Amino acid sequence: MNEIASRTIQKTLKALSGTLDWSEPELHVGEGTLRQLPRLLKEKQLKKVLIVTDKGIIQAGLLEQFIMNLDEQGMTYRVFDGIEPNPTIEMCEEIAIHFNSLHADAIIAVGGGSVLDAAKAAGIVITQPEKPLSAFRGLLKVWKKTPYTVMVPTTAGTGSEGTIASVLSSATGNEKYAIMDNVLTPDLAVLDSDLIQTLPKSLIAGPGMDALTHAVEAYIGQSNTAETKEHAKTTVKLMSENLKKVYDGEVDAEARENLLLASYYGGRAFTRAYVGYVHAISHALTAYYNLPHGSTNATVLPHVLRLFGDNIADSLAELAVEAGIENPEGSAVENAKRFIKWVDEMNESMGIAKHIPEIKETDLDGLTEHAAKEAHPLYPVPVIFTRDDIKEAYRIVKGEIE
Ligand SMILES: [Fe+2]
Repeated sequence: MNEIASRTIQKTLKALSGTLDWSEPELHVGEGTLRQLPRLLKEKQLKKVLIVTDKGIIQAGLLEQFIMNLDEQGMTYRVFDGIEPNPTIEMCEEIAIHFNSLHADAIIAVGGGSVLDAAKAAGIVITQPEKPLSAFRGLLKVWKKTPYTVMVPTTAGTGSEGTIASVLSSATGNEKYAIMDNVLTPDLAVLDSDLIQTLPKSLIAGPGMDALTHAVEAYIGQSNTAETKEHAKTTVKLMSENLKKVYDGEVDAEARENLLLASYYGGRAFTRAYVGYVHAISHALTAYYNLPHGSTNATVLPHVLRLFGDNIADSLAELAVEAGIENPEGSAVENAKRFIKWVDEMNESMGIAKHIPEIKETDLDGLTEHAAKEAHPLYPVPVIFTRDDIKEAYRIVKGEIE
C-alpha cells in the first residue's frame, strides 16, 4: 500500500475516533486503595464479584487484606487464579464460566497486563457467548457493553487499566492478536502503590520504559489529540521524576503512585493515538526470540527516534521540557538530541541493553515483514518507512551498523 493510501486510512480512523466515547475509568489512586475497594463496591451495589488473578499474586499475599475486607462487607466472591502469561481464548472462556456460575455482577482483575487483558476479553464471552472470541479480533467489533470491570495493575507499564484493548495469544502461543473497542475501557481503575512495593528491578525498568514508549510514540504520531498529548507529557514528566527512584529501591509511596499514574496516562495516550515503529519492530523481536516486551521497546526506542531525524525535532524538544533536560537556549534539533540521549542514559542506568545481538541475518526479511505488516497502514507514524528502512533499523538495533 502506498503512502497516500495509508495516510488516508489513518485520517479516516482519526475522524471516526472523534465520534467514539473516550470516557476514562473512574480512578482510585493511593496507598492501600485495593483494601478500600470492597466498601466502594458495596456503595455501588455490587454484591457478587469474580476476582481474576494469577498464582504469583496469591502467593505474594497481595490479596489477603482485600479478601478479608470483602468478608467484612458481607460480599460474595470467588477467586480464579488460572491466568498465565500470554492469555488464551480458553482462559477467557474459563473466566466466563466462573462468572456465570457465581451469577457475579463484576469482575475484579488484579495482576499484570496478561491478567487485565484476559479479564477484559472474558467480558465479551459473558455478554456475547454466541460468537467465538476470535470473531472480535481487530477494531470496533464488540460494541456491546461488557460487565462492570475493575482493573488493579500490579506492574507499572502496560497501562491496560486505561486502554480499549485486550491482547490475546493463540493456544500455541506464537500468534498474538488484539481486540480493540471502546466498550472494553474498564469502569474503575485502582492504582495502589502498595502493590508494586516488592517488584524486582527487571519488572520496574522494562515496563516503565514501555510506558514511556507508549507516550513518545503517541506524541510523535499523527493521530494525537490535545488530550492524548497532555497525557503523553504527563507520562514523560512522571517517568523522568520517578522511574529511576523506584528502580533504585527508594522507599517512597508517592514515587510508586506516580509510576502507576505514568503508566495509566501512557495507556490513555496510545489507546487513542496509537503506537508506532518501536512497537512494530519490537513485537517481531519478541515473537522471534521470546524477548520481554518492555525492555525490547526500551532498546529499540532511541534507535527509531534517531532514524526519524529532524522530522520529529519539535515534538521531541517539547518532551525534553517534560523530562526536565531541555536547554532553553538551544534549538529544537539540539533539544530533540538531548531527549534521545536522555532515553539512552535511562536505559543504561537500569541495565537495559543498547543492542540486540541475537538478531540473525537470516531472520531479517521475516522480521521486516512482521513489523511492516503490523505498522502499515494502521500506525500514524511521523514518517512512513520503506521495507528497506525497517530492515536497516533491525541492523542498527542488532549493533551491526550505526
Ligand atoms: Fe507496549
